Amino acid sequence: MRSQVLSWLAKNVSEHRLQHILGVEKMSIDLAKHYQLDEEKAGQAGLMHDLAKFFKPSRLLEMASANQIEIDPVCAENPHLLHADVSAIVARDEFGVTDEEILSAIRNHTLGCPEMSDLSCVVFVADALEPNRGDTPELEALRQESFLNLYQGVYQTCDYSLKYLLSSRLTIHPRTVLTRNWALQIVKQELKKSSIDLDKKERVKIK
Ligand SMILES: [Fe+2]
Ligand SMILES: [Fe+2]
Repeated sequence: MRSQVLSWLAKNVSEHRLQHILGVEKMSIDLAKHYQLDEEKAGQAGLMHDLAKFFKPSRLLEMASANQIEIDPVCAENPHLLHADVSAIVARDEFGVTDEEILSAIRNHTLGCPEMSDLSCVVFVADALEPNRGDTPELEALRQESFLNLYQGVYQTCDYSLKYLLSSRLTIHPRTVLTRNWALQIVKQELKKSSIDLDKKERVKIK
């Protein structure tokens, strides 16, 4: 299937985008391996996440409504955001992907989603941080964080794109904020739990 997808991509996306896609595929596999997730699913979701990247706005809107995808006001104004949902449709219809986890990871790669699976988190983070995105110290730090704690990687990736959207005066989709708050909450709970555990250990020592 990989070679089929690659030849489809060669006809439907730019060379520059293809390099990004291959970067996402690789980083998704690396993260999946690191967090003991299904590497094959991660690679497939990474490879297919941007299938619809170059579809025209009218085509994205048409395909989304034909497939009962909700077009909220922000997406109606910025149909490009629908390329994530539409890429999942292409993965299903063109390449016969039926695995819901892979399809969701493709759908969630741009805006994320509260409660998304670890596989979705992996592709979400890889999309923003794969090596072709650049080598600024900020990106390097984010890459390291994403291998230390996946949820930390998710909320910091959201912060990173929110900063960009704010400074460029671009519309922010509320789901980016919801995803950020969800992942941040998990990190905070983990921190709280580990400090309680540490506290318990300390008390045991004192006894
Ligand atoms: Fe994308
Ligand atoms: Fe992408």
